[in-house]
Amino acid sequence: MSLKGVILAGGLGKRLYPLTKITNKHLLPVYNKPMVYYPIQTLVDAGIENILIVTGGNNAGEFLRLLGNGKDFGLKHINYTYQEGEGGIADALKLAQHFADNDKVVVILGDNIIEKDIIRPVEDFKKQAKGARILLKKVEDPERFGVAELKGDKIISIEEKPKKPKSDYAVTGIYMYDSGVFEIIKRLKPSGRNELEITDVNNAYLDRGELEYSMLDGWWTDSGTFESLLNANMLVAKKVKA
Ligand code: DAU
Repeated sequence: MSLKGVILAGGLGKRLYPLTKITNKHLLPVYNKPMVYYPIQTLVDAGIENILIVTGGNNAGEFLRLLGNGKDFGLKHINYTYQEGEGGIADALKLAQHFADNDKVVVILGDNIIEKDIIRPVEDFKKQAKGARILLKKVEDPERFGVAELKGDKIISIEEKPKKPKSDYAVTGIYMYDSGVFEIIKRLKPSGRNELEITDVNNAYLDRGELEYSMLDGWWTDSGTFESLLNANMLVAKKVKA
């Protein structure tokens, strides 16, 4: 069974206003490339070449102008779809159902940048009979993220941006799901911030005893706030110059 890739690059990027007033967040520069190049490269490096980009907002057409059919990444084709509004990460993922067509998917948020690769966790997920796999990373500011509480080698809870995090392990924006994910999303209710939350999807897999995790190797950052965008630029610059 083949594994497909989904990049979520919708949303309005409000936390980066006015940088995002006339363009999509994922088209902003991170050192020497547009932000969305990094998650695409992460998927391609893991051997995933069948990729869907979910975008939205007023500047969605610019993705086609920038990426075309993915020649810069050695791809023959890229699929695109459009999220209306800003209904959350799980709402954006919902649009990938037709593309996934019962195959497993590796999902990556368009503002997540990593130092190394996800080859090993992807291989482990391929061997996994069913369920989901998330990637965790130890961070200094877990309250900014989904946070996984661990007991031994098991996840026992995930909380979205908790005021008092139960661990230092952030749930990164790289998620692997079997085809059951779309039924889970259909049953979700919007959260307090009126979004369909990816943390609720992961907790649904946890309740079924079907949530595995891997630790992400190397540095990881999002780039959706002024601070994290600056940090992403510095980390990438250091890596490029090394
Ligand atoms: O970066 C990892 C974190 O991403 C996780 O630890 C959190 O559990 C998860 O909820 C998410 O947190 P954020 O609140 O930082 O996500 P944000 O709203 O910034 O959205 C991240 C990306 O998801 C964004 O760059 C594009 C995509 N997205 C987001 C929304 C709200 C969409 O495609 N559509 C959307 O409607």
